[in-house]
Amino acid sequence: PTSLDSTSADVTGVVMGAPGTADLPWSELGFEYRNTKSHLRMVYRDGKWEDAEMVESPYLSVHIGATALHYGQACFEGLKAFAHADGSVYLFRPDENANRINRSASRVMMPEIPVETFVKACNDVVKDNIAYVPPYGSGGALYLRPLLFGSGPRIGLQPSEEYTFLIMVIPVGDYYKGGLAKPVSGLIVDEYDRAAPKGVGSAKVAGNYAADLIPNVEAKKMGYPICLYLDAATHTKVEEFSTSNFIGIDNTNRRYVTPRSPSVLPSVTNKSLQTIARDIGMTVEARDIMVEELDTFDEVIACGTAVVVTPIGSLTRLNAEGGGGASSTYRFTEDVGETTRVLYDRVRSIQNGEVEDVHNWNFKV
Ligand code: COI
Repeated sequence: PTSLDSTSADVTGVVMGAPGTADLPWSELGFEYRNTKSHLRMVYRDGKWEDAEMVESPYLSVHIGATALHYGQACFEGLKAFAHADGSVYLFRPDENANRINRSASRVMMPEIPVETFVKACNDVVKDNIAYVPPYGSGGALYLRPLLFGSGPRIGLQPSEEYTFLIMVIPVGDYYKGGLAKPVSGLIVDEYDRAAPKGVGSAKVAGNYAADLIPNVEAKKMGYPICLYLDAATHTKVEEFSTSNFIGIDNTNRRYVTPRSPSVLPSVTNKSLQTIARDIGMTVEARDIMVEELDTFDEVIACGTAVVVTPIGSLTRLNAEGGGGASSTYRFTEDVGETTRVLYDRVRSIQNGEVEDVHNWNFKV
């Protein structure tokens, strides 16, 4: 594992307790906001990043003219820290999130954060909140939510001159209780689009998530916990789920198929699962996936940092072609598929330190 020695240089200089020592119901965490000891905050002013500080209050005083509030100049990240059996704590691939936040930042004209600064900030905020890292064996993780936004005032549409970067941390359990849930039913969305071909779909900007709120709530009301978006230009190709990437598994030909599209968010979990799929002898194809091709998959997976892996049991398309078409349902394995389980178990056991970290994904805190 890559080791980051920050013991002499962390922001607070104080190392508190050990994983799992905060007073929390570790086996029942779910994925909900909870207060922790502190968050990290760093401000960009006069053309440079100032020093980071740990802040105990979860409140922030923001200028009423902040560009994030008016014009959506904001992006975020999600990554996790895991306790291993010996009580040590590791961040999972924080360098990937550092690179991605910088790609998101530049798409909406925000300053980049040096990769080492980002990774050290993750490291320091985990250290300061070490008691909130769920203990090994609980199935949980400390979820880190880095956030970067324009905090200075502008009333004409221009980038801000001031930016705030923060990392809040929240102990979370499995997104779905018990790890791999039974496959869920998804709805293929025709009435809305998530992202335009040359828009901001591949950047993790706040507005992409606002766009999914109505479709998401409507789909849930109809009994579909997850939405699958199509390419906005033609509605013929699979793009991604509400907050997760799409993976189709063809077990006969040992193929792992995922969309290649300029408007899909490059998921760190998808990237990791692709590596694992190759390790187990599968062929990885990143390419266009036509909707009709859904018929050829045995298993379908939605993947992301928060959920890790959500098995999809079926995908329904209601009234395709603007209400005139018949509805159709594509069905996959009724129970968790064999490949889904292998991929999930492998990535979780690397995160938990139970198998050798052959790809150097774990960064020691
Ligand atoms: C994540 O998986 O970390 C995400 O960013 C999705 C979030 C909306 C929960």
